[in-house]
Formats: sequence, structure tokens, C-alpha cells
Amino acid sequence: MFKKVPGTKDILPEQIHIWQEIEAKGRDIFTAYNYKEIRPPLLEDALLFNRSLGESAEIVQKQMFLVHSGSDVYALRPEATASIVRSYIENSLDKLSPFFKAYYIGPMFRLERPQKGRLRQFHHLGCEVIGSYDPRADVEVISLADSLLKAFSIDGYTIKLNSLGCAGDKLALTDFLRKELSGKAEALCEDCQARYSRNILRILDCKNPACQEIVHGLSISDNHLCDGCKNHFAKVKDGLNALAVKYELSSYLVRGLDYYTRTVFEFTHPDLGRQQDALGAGGRYDNLVSQLGGPDTGAIGFAFGMERLLLATTLKPEARNRKFTFLISLGEKARKEGLILLHNLRKAGISCDTDYEDKSLKGSMRKANDLGARFVLILGDNELEKNTVMLKDLVSGEQKEVPREQLLSELQDPVSRPGLETGS
Ligand code: HAM
Repeated sequence: MFKKVPGTKDILPEQIHIWQEIEAKGRDIFTAYNYKEIRPPLLEDALLFNRSLGESAEIVQKQMFLVHSGSDVYALRPEATASIVRSYIENSLDKLSPFFKAYYIGPMFRLERPQKGRLRQFHHLGCEVIGSYDPRADVEVISLADSLLKAFSIDGYTIKLNSLGCAGDKLALTDFLRKELSGKAEALCEDCQARYSRNILRILDCKNPACQEIVHGLSISDNHLCDGCKNHFAKVKDGLNALAVKYELSSYLVRGLDYYTRTVFEFTHPDLGRQQDALGAGGRYDNLVSQLGGPDTGAIGFAFGMERLLLATTLKPEARNRKFTFLISLGEKARKEGLILLHNLRKAGISCDTDYEDKSLKGSMRKANDLGARFVLILGDNELEKNTVMLKDLVSGEQKEVPREQLLSELQDPVSRPGLETGS
């Protein structure tokens, strides 16, 4: 028997409601902020990610699913920011509108060691804004992410905020760390010893307590930021304060991808555990578009991990479809007539079904309940003769005989029918 690949999940029909609800709420909010959906391919030239995320990024070093085709090497996308920038440049989207706002929902792939909240195929719900250096874009994007979490009924999260500064400031911070940590490298964890030469900034947000103790002793502040970056960051904080978006400043927040400059942020949640407590994260990437061959332009975005949103949400989607109707046909003649009835209801957009198992009335009622039906229609010889159908509301328990020509309006508008609607 075949098994699913480790770190992947089947999202089964009985689990789909919550996914659809999060997606629907997400789309509504993105639309309110005037973001349009973009769907780039899942396969990209692997070099796109090497170039964007950086050769030393963990994702590029050890987490890419690579597909070899002749001399070409493709990657199953580990994230979407690089793909969207590629698409923005390749399709000259800056010519259509210099200010580009798009959201995306879809699977990402990273060859990780699977555990709670860490998968090899997972889903992002995120957005990118390309075409502005303005700090108000940072404020919009962070407050949009905050609105999404509220709409998803997620409480108790923290927004961690930092500014890495521009490329020059990042270099200054790198030099400072190299100097400060030079005698302490041996006390760092194995990963951080490798990071010391490869990607020293990442030592700052290592979760290992020994590394944290060393790093927190360095009293990192915003000294490495130039005046322009300090000013930008001050405006971001002001804007968030004006919108009453609460955040926590964290000088140790770095993020693992090379493309980040200036504002970076992360949404953490205690229910996710210490090792991977991020619901989502994002930041500015003001140099990426030009690095990949596009115009000089600022950009910012974020992505939530959908599986992690599901671990933290208290949303309880209503499994009982408010109008799902189950037809029970009793007897040979009614079965034939029932097919026509179902056909007409479906044409009118009523969600309905029957089974082909010729169960008893009791067995069929059980089946209707198992399927989460709201209404049951019973069609037997008696009803056929009178051209009626028995309509039972499984929520209120009420039952009444309805002339066939009235059935559609009863099912289409049950709320306004006295005696049928008691809420669910
Ligand atoms: P990221 O921090 O690598 O950022 O991923 C964003 C979120 O995806 C994480 O905070 C986490 O919730 C989720 N995630 C990451 N890896 C896994 C995994 N293996 N299993 C389950 N969930 C995971 C980015 O990808 C950037 N592209 C975000 C961004 C957009 N920055 C600017 N624009």
C-alpha cells in the first residue's frame, strides 16, 4: 500500500471547510485593500532562489526540492516572493501600473525534517507590494496582516518588528558582529558556528539558549542604522501607532533570507511551540527587483503559513450546509421520479443528493444526518399520487407536506418560511 510522502498531508473533504473559510476571509480582506490575486507556477528555475534568497540561506543550502530536466535544474518553489518578482519583471508589470499589489494562496515546498507545524509541502497565504519605498506601504502591509489574523479569530499573537537597515547598514551590523563574536565562536551552537562565516546575521535569531545568551549580551540596538533608515523606521512605527496596531520591537529579529532590507516583522503565537512559533513573517526587499534585472524600486510583503494559522485559529466553520437537502425515494416509481426532482433542484442551484442503496426510511434518515443535511425530502407512493413531497427540517424537527410546485421556493428561502427556520 502506498503512503503519502513524509511531511505532506491529505486535506480531506471533512477538513476542507476550515481551509475554505480562511481562504474566503483572506480574499475578502485582500480585496478590501485592493490586492488582486496572482498565481505564478509552482516550478521555477532553481537559480532564481539562489540569487534571491542568497547562497547561504538555509532554504537554498539544504531545503530545495530540485527537478533535473536535461541540463536545466528547476525547483519546486520554497516561497513565492522571488517568483512574483520574476513574474513582475518578465511581464513588465511596472508598465501597467508602477504600484503593484498582489496576494497569493498556494503550496510551497521545503525539504525539512517534518514535525508539528513544519511540513515539506505547506501553504502560504501572503501578499507583495512592489513599487514604493514609502513607509506607509510598510504600515499598510503590517496592518493588513494584523486584520487577517483578527478575521481568522486568532488571538494572543505578537508582532515582532525590527529594521535591518539598508545594504550598507547590514554590512555595518555584520562587521560589528564579526568583531564582537570572534572570541566566542566556540560557545555557539554548531549551526551558528557555520553561520559565523556564512551568514552571521542569522546568529541573532538563533533559538538555542546558549547562543541567545551570548547574543543578548551584545546589546544590539539601532546604532547600525543610517539616518535615512532610522527616519523610515520611525515613520513605520508612527503609522502603526496611529492605527493602534500593537507591536514589540526586537533588535534580534533578522529573518533567514538575504533579500530583506529595512523593515522586517514576524507574527509569533505561543500555541505553536518554541521551535517554530511563527504564524507568518515578512519585510522589505528594496534591492531584489533591480538585482533580478527589473527597475530600481522598493517592495514589501509577507506570508502566513496556513497550517500554522489552522493550529492557532478558534474559528469553527459550520459543517452543516445551511441548505443541503437529502432526498429519500421509497419504491420503484418514486426512485425514477426522484431522479427528475433532484435534477431540477440542482439546476436551480440547490445543493442536494440521494443515495443509490435502497435503504429503509430509518437507514436513509441516518445517512442524511451523517451527511450533515439540513432538509430531508421524502417521496413515496402517497406523495406521488398527490404531487407533493414531505419536507423535514432536521434542525427544528418540523415536517410538512409541500406541493411539488412550491418546493423550490421553500428550499430557496427557508428563512422566511414560518415554522421551518429556528436557526442552526
Ligand atoms: P518564511 O518566514 O520563510 O517567509 O515563511 C513564512 C511562513 O511560512 C512562516 O512564518 C511559517 O508560518 C510558514 N512556514 C515556513 N516553512 C514552513 C514549513 N516547512 N512548514 C509549515 N509552515 C512553514 C517567506 O517565505 C517570505 N517569502 C515571506 C515574505 C513575503 N517576505 C516578503 N514577502
